[in-house]
Amino acid sequence: MQMIPIGDTSLNVRIEGTGPPLLLVHGFPLDHTMWEAQVAEFSRDHQVIAPDLRGFGASELGSEPYSIGRLADDLAAVLDALHVTQPVVLCALSMGGYVAWQFWDRYANRLEKLVLCDTRAAADSPDAAQGRRDTAARVLTDGVGELVAGMVPKLFADPTLERTPDLVQSVRHVMESTDPRSVAAALRAMAARPNMESRLPEIAVPTLLVCGELDVITPVAEMRRVASAMPNGLFVEIAGAGHMAPAEQAIEVNRAIRRFLEPASSEMG
Ligand code: MLT
Repeated sequence: MQMIPIGDTSLNVRIEGTGPPLLLVHGFPLDHTMWEAQVAEFSRDHQVIAPDLRGFGASELGSEPYSIGRLADDLAAVLDALHVTQPVVLCALSMGGYVAWQFWDRYANRLEKLVLCDTRAAADSPDAAQGRRDTAARVLTDGVGELVAGMVPKLFADPTLERTPDLVQSVRHVMESTDPRSVAAALRAMAARPNMESRLPEIAVPTLLVCGELDVITPVAEMRRVASAMPNGLFVEIAGAGHMAPAEQAIEVNRAIRRFLEPASSEMG
């Protein structure tokens, strides 16, 4: 792990392996540890860079304002600090996907490919945005307990909740350990994020869209629509997985990512 100073804050970043850069961007309210299985697999032949976004994991929150665009700027600053000039494969989950859209908007020339897991292009409806702002206010007064209790059953498919309690517990622990100020800041930032639906036809970078069959937060039908609106979008559904597909069905997700990154060699193999 490295603490990387960037402007007003320092980010905790896991860096493993050598090869083409693969940047892993976690969801809300999580940290880089959700990518354990992807770090293990892809660090064999990639430089895997898995930051904790500002305020999450061991990264510092830094100064206001907190926005999804700023999180995208942070990723570019991490790449600069690591002297990564080669375009990256950016693989992101959910809130990480919102950051990925903004990274594309600001730094398209730094992207080789996108892998977007269990995320959406639409903005929040006015009601959903207000709900997030209300939750942010509650988290600041009462802590993250209620949010975590409500979110855990939605993050995982029922079979995952039943069969892999250790995975569920470790994710719950990360969520419970997150600073309420960071949770509130990210909730407000997500509520204010731009709608990317009308931009999808412009996003020509090859993009793999991965969605758990049983994801109740970002349903399969919505991600299929996103994929079909993108000129080079490829959709893969992961059987038996929920919103945390890369952790719940890591072998299947890793296989889909490899096939997308190395189409020729997987066809031969
Ligand atoms: C996430 O997993 O990052 C969140 O569910 C995203 C969201 O709340 O929209």
